[in-house]
Amino acid sequence: MKNITVLVSGGGTNLQALIDAQESGIIKNGRITCVISSKPGVYALERAKNHGIKSRVLERKLYRDSVEYSRALLKALDEEKADLVVYAGFMTIIDELVVKAYPNRMMNVHPALIPSFCGKGYYGLKVHEEALKKGVKVSGATVHFVTEECDGGPIILQKAVEVMEDDTPEVLQKRIMEQAEWKILPQAVSLFCDDRLEVRDNRVYIKN
Ligand code: GAR
Repeated sequence: MKNITVLVSGGGTNLQALIDAQESGIIKNGRITCVISSKPGVYALERAKNHGIKSRVLERKLYRDSVEYSRALLKALDEEKADLVVYAGFMTIIDELVVKAYPNRMMNVHPALIPSFCGKGYYGLKVHEEALKKGVKVSGATVHFVTEECDGGPIILQKAVEVMEDDTPEVLQKRIMEQAEWKILPQAVSLFCDDRLEVRDNRVYIKN
């Protein structure tokens, strides 16, 4: 059984999708043992509490810089004996020292089809605003392993979602969450926990 630590900063709907997948048996070989938030008072912490999951708050503004913050995060992950770390709407820049300590053991959900609308500055609603500005007909979500390169790690799963002509960023965000993120994030976590993900030459292969 693998220990999963989920990193959050906000509402935590992706965390909820993981909790639901765990409770319904979609994730069989892993347990969310800790939720770490970069902000106090966010609803994601409430979701953890409601399901009896331990949580910790590591407030970014209490640390001098991202290196100091990353050292504290690394210490927390080690204490929690995390086998897998999931970024689920975690909106804090982390130094590469954390990523290097957990190679191919950290995954992130991004609300677009990487390599579109990703990289530094592309997070939350901003991603959907840019997709609508460009006029794309299809967007979606990507789950990928985290590397030193922002949104540049090996892609695990992607799912496309149709863009409608009258979409607002908020409407598109909701559709992408419902139709893509909440499905592929639990699937990717489940595959990891079943030891079915293999990374070779920056590509992810799914073993049968
Ligand atoms: C999600 O849409 C997630 O993909 C996005 O933030 C939202 C968090 O929602 N993450 C990023 O933009 C990371 N680059 P949630 O707190 O309800 O899961």
